[in-house]
Amino acid sequence: MLKVVVLISGTGSNLRALLDGLDEARASDAPIAAEIVAIGADTERANLALGDERGIPTFVVAPGAYPDRAAWGDALLAKVREFGPDLTILSGFMRLVPPRVVDALAPELLNTHPAYLPEFPGAHAVRDALEAGANETGATIMIVDNGVDTGPIIDQRRIAITPDDTEATLHERIKVVERQLLLDTVRHLAAGTLNLKEIAS
Ligand code: GAR
Repeated sequence: MLKVVVLISGTGSNLRALLDGLDEARASDAPIAAEIVAIGADTERANLALGDERGIPTFVVAPGAYPDRAAWGDALLAKVREFGPDLTILSGFMRLVPPRVVDALAPELLNTHPAYLPEFPGAHAVRDALEAGANETGATIMIVDNGVDTGPIIDQRRIAITPDDTEATLHERIKVVERQLLLDTVRHLAAGTLNLKEIAS
């Protein structure tokens, strides 16, 4: 069983879709041998009710409680490690993870990004694509490295931008694709048909 810790900062709708997808797969004839063993956040405002509803342990490691970023990262890493994950997913975790955390967890540390990397890295990818006047953007799943959205790409897909798109409508369409990419990635990792060490090397 692939043990997965997911880190979020906000509504966690992609995490909810992952939980639902794993439940649906479990009830089907094509179960995915993966389990979300904990949900963590950097803020009390994150939707940790997703874990409470399903009996999944949750935790918050907020940067404000630590003297500096490195100390916060060490506390976050210690908390993640309590759950012994085979995989950690940043799913709308809106902070750069300190290098010691990346070095300890990668390549089994993934991020979802609402653009077709290397286009539009950073925290405002959807807005940036609209402001650039692009007619398409995308969604990407990648291994986290020490850059800003520069890690090895696992999977990505193009999404058209329509003239009447707002940041909200476009982001919602991107998330639909992100959810599929994320579930597929977890399915492949659980089945052993995707090797993160090979992709990262
Ligand atoms: C997702 O689109 C994710 O790719 C993005 O935040 C959203 C989270 O949505 N992450 C980033 O932009 C990281 N740079 P959710 O909280 O509804 O799942």
